[in-house]
Amino acid sequence: MPTPLGLTARNVTQVFGARGKEPVVALEDFSLDVAPGEFVAVVGPSGCGKTTLLRTFAGLAEPTTGEVSVGGEPLRKPRRDVSMMFQAPTLLPWKTVLGNCLLPREIDHRVDDRDRARAHELLAWAGLDGFADRRPHELSGGMQQRVAICRALMADPAVLLLDEPFGALDAMTREQMNVDMRRIWSASGVTTLLITHDIPEAVFLAQRVVVLSSRPGRTLDVIDVPLPRERDIAVIQTPEFAAACGRIRSYFIREGSHAAL
Ligand SMILES: Nc1ncnc2c1ncn2[C@@H]1O[C@H](COP(=O)(O)OP(=O)(O)OP(=O)(O)O)[C@@H](O)[C@H]1O
Ligand SMILES: [Mg+2]
Repeated sequence: MPTPLGLTARNVTQVFGARGKEPVVALEDFSLDVAPGEFVAVVGPSGCGKTTLLRTFAGLAEPTTGEVSVGGEPLRKPRRDVSMMFQAPTLLPWKTVLGNCLLPREIDHRVDDRDRARAHELLAWAGLDGFADRRPHELSGGMQQRVAICRALMADPAVLLLDEPFGALDAMTREQMNVDMRRIWSASGVTTLLITHDIPEAVFLAQRVVVLSSRPGRTLDVIDVPLPRERDIAVIQTPEFAAACGRIRSYFIREGSHAAL
């Protein structure tokens, strides 16, 4: 298991411009320190710059101004040890579920039996045993998303960037994946940055929750989740859980963008 790495964004602004069009400011003066091994969630209304933020941390989008670093090193391009799960599953249609899952290992070296065993273990975790030999088009949207999560974990990353990983799942599967995600994070200690529209999901999974405003995304608050590191699903019934959710929700009611969230 690689050593988890910290993430830092310093005064990051992302402006998208195109000839003859108004520039779009997607993120404005965004700063954040994520400690090695920490789990941070980011919530914010649709279009506020969450995916842009994650792409910036993945080295896929250079900040217009400001700087991003991973493990103290300025980030200039994507790194092998930073694994990103995209909002759309982006599976290779000609590869099987197992083949898609093994992709990060295939890029690194020849796939061996240990890799295959690990991939099967992850697929079983995601409730996909029995689908290893299927192709993506034979799966539902939620199942494809679960394969993409397995693929991101297969890289054994030092940093995991998750863009709405549970968005296409039904409520019950989502809750189970949340519980399992926490178990995986706890066991691996991987630094995790999760984007979600779901406030209870953010509070259940994360140690801190960053609340972004509508575009241009600015940090409205960073909430320390007052729950123990080891949690099971019963914490969602506690007053502390409800209070943390209520505090985050209040920003969006105030912002008038509650419906978008
Ligand atoms: N490559 C790009 N070129 C031009 N504009 C972009 C690009 N990527 C994002 N944008 C713009 O930046 C803004 C933020 O987009 P982003 O995808 O980061 O939002 P988001 O918070 O992830 O939204 P959602 O919750 O709907 O996924 C949007 O206005 C979008 O149109
Ligand atoms: Mg997005």
